[in-house]
Amino acid sequence: MKKILISEKGRKFLVKGAEFHSNHGRVDIEEGAESARSHLGHRFAVLDPDLIDIYEKMPRAGSYMLKKDMGMILGCLGVGTGAVVVDAGTGSGALAIFLGNVVGASGKVYSYERKPEFAAVARGNVKTAGLEDVVSVGVCDVLEGFREDNGSVDFVTLDLNEAWKTLEEVKRILRRGGRIAIYNPYIEHARLVHSRLVELGFMEIQTIESVTREMEFRAQGTRPKTSRVGHSGYLTFARKV
Ligand SMILES: C[S@@+](CC[C@H](N)C(=O)[O-])C[C@H]1O[C@@H](n2cnc3c(N)ncnc32)[C@H](O)[C@@H]1O
Repeated sequence: MKKILISEKGRKFLVKGAEFHSNHGRVDIEEGAESARSHLGHRFAVLDPDLIDIYEKMPRAGSYMLKKDMGMILGCLGVGTGAVVVDAGTGSGALAIFLGNVVGASGKVYSYERKPEFAAVARGNVKTAGLEDVVSVGVCDVLEGFREDNGSVDFVTLDLNEAWKTLEEVKRILRRGGRIAIYNPYIEHARLVHSRLVELGFMEIQTIESVTREMEFRAQGTRPKTSRVGHSGYLTFARKV
């Protein structure tokens, strides 16, 4: 049994099994219960974990993509049910899992990671998300090329060093009209990606930064939270014509 417990102060715990211990005390979770109380009197809401809970609580392998960037990628690519997507590098599998959740059982996400130990973490996370039939995680260095046939892929997502070196191969595997998203932490790298996309004849090339500000509602007044993500990465989108 896997459950999410949310305390009255909003702290979230992923619980495996019927008993849970924290500094809030011991909690016994009854089958089907919507709430539980610890032996110290703290109350928790009890929920089945959803995709966001899994994303927040999953083991990490290296740095991982933020929801603001994954949401932008899904929206700007227009990924839908049944699509075939190639994703690299996998890291802990955050983007691969969100892609898999959208393409569903009739689609496929082939995600590639060069570090076997990271791939193992990602496979575990894909399984926890219940997407092992949709998302496959392969170990390879995509700078040496992709395994997919010519024109066989609807979308490609790249989040790795030197992504610009893979773009000729990306063009080969993408179908005509297919789209690519590339994530770069540094603007110099986004510029190299942009130049290579132009050289290779991609169209609808656009680089953006997604900036979000969470609002804080307090007794004194309302304003953006003072602590926030300053920068994550630049997103470049393009289309094969
Ligand atoms: C920033 S992480 C990816 C995060 C991931 N996209 C996510 O959704 O959380 C970059 C990953 O790319 C992998 N990587 C770097 N170069 C690679 C290559 N040439 N082929 C495959 N994987 C690569 C790294 O090992 C690392 O795990």
